Amino acid sequence: MKNICVIGVGYVGLVTGTCFADLGNRVCCLDINAERIEGLKKGIMPIYEPGLAEMVTRNVQAGRLSFTTSYEEAINGPPAEFIFIAVGTPEGVDGEADLRYVRMAAESIADVADHPFIVVNKSTVPVGTGDWVADIIRARQKKPIPFAVVSNPEFLREGSAIQDFLNPDRVVLGSLDREAANKVAELHLPLRTTIMITDLRTAEMIKYASNAFLATKISFINEIAAICEALGADVKEVAVGMGYDKRIGRTFLDAGIGWGGSCFPKDVKALAYMASVHGRHPQLLQAVMDINTDQRRLVVQKVRECLGALEGKTIGLLGLAFKPNTDDMREAPSIEITRMLQAEGARVKAYDPVAMPNAGRILQNVVLAEDPYELAEGCDAVIVVTEWNEFKQLDMARLKRVMRQPVVIDGRNIYEPEMMRAYGFVYRGIGRGYNEHKPGSSNASP
Ligand code: UDX
Repeated sequence: MKNICVIGVGYVGLVTGTCFADLGNRVCCLDINAERIEGLKKGIMPIYEPGLAEMVTRNVQAGRLSFTTSYEEAINGPPAEFIFIAVGTPEGVDGEADLRYVRMAAESIADVADHPFIVVNKSTVPVGTGDWVADIIRARQKKPIPFAVVSNPEFLREGSAIQDFLNPDRVVLGSLDREAANKVAELHLPLRTTIMITDLRTAEMIKYASNAFLATKISFINEIAAICEALGADVKEVAVGMGYDKRIGRTFLDAGIGWGGSCFPKDVKALAYMASVHGRHPQLLQAVMDINTDQRRLVVQKVRECLGALEGKTIGLLGLAFKPNTDDMREAPSIEITRMLQAEGARVKAYDPVAMPNAGRILQNVVLAEDPYELAEGCDAVIVVTEWNEFKQLDMARLKRVMRQPVVIDGRNIYEPEMMRAYGFVYRGIGRGYNEHKPGSSNASP
């Protein structure tokens, strides 16, 4: 059992702290947001993450997990050997990461810690930040207490964060202090996974390069989708066929509205920014971002192709969150799509199983529906924006009956074109070109 302090109770911090407590450590989570901490003490989660509330309650009751706004309590009582920084690094000007919360955390650690410690940085920070954090702490300490800084990038996905933490593909640790890195490695031994130890800057770069690669994979298949549409091929099957090749793999090849969320948009932009300020020309990253922006425009264009001018039309958005199993609206495609539809004079309705309270604070003049059928009522077109499981088995006959015009734009390719046409819908997916030579194709027009 180790004593651990985690600074920041966002996705990364709360999941990390709770999982380390579940592995038998004593963890104190700190946040400067008193409302969040008060909520957590009462069992109210600041984020929606399947299984998290139960795990928090279990570990609080076992006395292994606590919450505070006091640095003194979090770091010194009992003395924390490991201090994880998991604060937000929002996008600043030009895509540069805003490090003000990391700086505040580093300064507070320096002010308060009265014993040797290891700072483990989990926030996604520009390459070189680990050295910068060490400099801040060293310069600010009143007496020279020994410490080390280790970078430990987080690869968890929202919606499966606990599983991702407990069953990672790898743990990456970066430090100039090998002994400190080994101690952090020991903390991860129960996860029985590959632990890679490297230097600080390389570890920080692994996080950016991984996210940029995944975003590239998605933008790649979205570009292929556009070509498939033009040539009459089906991108879903193309992705399956490509995926059998072990060098390519099937994951992250789902064409659609494009990537959003709290990581990909921010990290790809930040990596491009870092490249530019160091005199490099990140052409591929720029193209990856451009393709992603175009995917949002593409769905609106598809609605226009089906309905003509959008002035006075009612469009329903099925799903609002940036992906299923989360209520996160950060960089959600639904925001931009709503803006584009409204700019053309359309009335926008929306439904999402969990993101509506968050969405209501962000989206203006959007009518929120109680369920998919209420959403479809009076709509000239419905756009599938988020591929929630509950949308996959809708009563399509009922949906069609309540719509003003039977138009479905499937931004996530969750329905089969043939089936939708058989129901009498005008259906458009992404990259699902009509091919009359395909086995099982009817003669219905595309
Ligand atoms: C991502 C990374 O996966 C994770 O390792 C990192 O730590 C944080 O960023 P997350 O943002 O939770 O996690 O979502 P993820 O499931 O990776 O999806 C990212 C975006 O890509 C979503 O908008 C999703 O809809 C989109 N996506 C994903 C596709 O459009 N197609 C795909 O094939 C996969």
